[in-house]
Amino acid sequence: MATAKQDPNLLIYSAPEVTRYYAALDYLTPCERLLFETYLRRGMAILDLGVGGGRTAPFLASLAGRYVGADYAPEMIAACRKKFPQLEFETANAADLSRFASSGFDAVVMAFNALDYAVPDECRLRALQEIHRVLKPEGILIFSSHNPRSIFVRPSWNPKRVRDLAERIAGGDSVLHRPVLWSLAGARVSIAVFQAVARSLTRAVRRLPTRAFWRGQGYLTDPAHGGLKTHVAVPERVANELEGFCFRLLHVLGDDYPRVSRRYVTDWYYYAFSKTQATGEK
Ligand SMILES: C[S@@+](CC[C@H](N)C(=O)[O-])C[C@H]1O[C@@H](n2cnc3c(N)ncnc32)[C@H](O)[C@@H]1O
Repeated sequence: MATAKQDPNLLIYSAPEVTRYYAALDYLTPCERLLFETYLRRGMAILDLGVGGGRTAPFLASLAGRYVGADYAPEMIAACRKKFPQLEFETANAADLSRFASSGFDAVVMAFNALDYAVPDECRLRALQEIHRVLKPEGILIFSSHNPRSIFVRPSWNPKRVRDLAERIAGGDSVLHRPVLWSLAGARVSIAVFQAVARSLTRAVRRLPTRAFWRGQGYLTDPAHGGLKTHVAVPERVANELEGFCFRLLHVLGDDYPRVSRRYVTDWYYYAFSKTQATGEK
């Protein structure tokens, strides 16, 4: 098992503020909901690997005949056990699932890019081998992975907050309501566009000089939580790598679903694969 000293990502994920951050999350994205509802069936044995603070646990456990959440950070597992004392959680590195029997799970889920943080390459490849081993024949693997070519950031703002502010300033019925709303909306959209341009420039400066951008696969530093070493790969590379481990691609979907995913915009992609052979030994 990697120690926090050997794996800087583990050190970050073990920090109390990072554990608290993940333990406070309690939603599914539309992309996850669609893939879970499409490929997971009631009564399945599901392994939620890199479970973090248990964001996906309630949904997956409500569906599963057997649910196990696993993470290599003991602090994350402690947070999950506190939040969901009725569910099963184990401390386990994705690269060593020896505590789980072969062909024991119908599905493995690695949400929010957990596989990308299994570094170095050897750890990610070993994890894929282990996932293949613990899956039943035709078992389902759903995970997401960062897109190295995402350099454009879409402008985003919250229209409800603008409407609420306009109502507070001008009142709902006043003649001033519309002019105030339009002025606020115009200002907010301009700020959002400016922010998006600034973030896109920062990303382009960071990513364009990297091998990962041009090759379509490699490592980048994810600025989240102070800087995580992150494996990144374009969908073609992900499909090739997983094929090498006897997985068949079923579905690729941008995390920005229901928006149309764009090669240079979509931050990360979700994948559904199915296991094609009885053993993943290479
Ligand atoms: C970005 S968080 C995602 C948490 C959760 N899946 C979610 O969707 O909210 C990544 C998680 O993967 C875990 N992780 C990273 N590398 C791992 C490994 N090699 N084995 C098991 N867990 C790992 C981290 O501890 C962290 O909790």
